[in-house]
Amino acid sequence: PFHIDLAHSGHSLQVPADRSALSVIREHVPEVAYSCRQGFCGTCKTRVLAGEVEHRDHVLTDTERAENMMICVSRATSQHLKLDL
Ligand code: FES
Repeated sequence: PFHIDLAHSGHSLQVPADRSALSVIREHVPEVAYSCRQGFCGTCKTRVLAGEVEHRDHVLTDTERAENMMICVSRATSQHLKLDL
């Protein structure tokens, strides 16, 4: 499990091992953008403000990965991520 802090809404959420970050975030931010939920389409790209990401997508370049993550598939290697949501 890891924690996600949402910078704009102020939510602090726990993501269990058997759920995606997107799934947990959607409960609190229903308007969050997504489509494929498999790391291919690019819709759920989200800026990462702090923390270390374990990238599992198939769409971001290395340059994009420095500041963004796909929240439908990627996870954290740090205990906390702070996202621009
Ligand atoms: Fe398509 Fe995340 S919803 S890459």
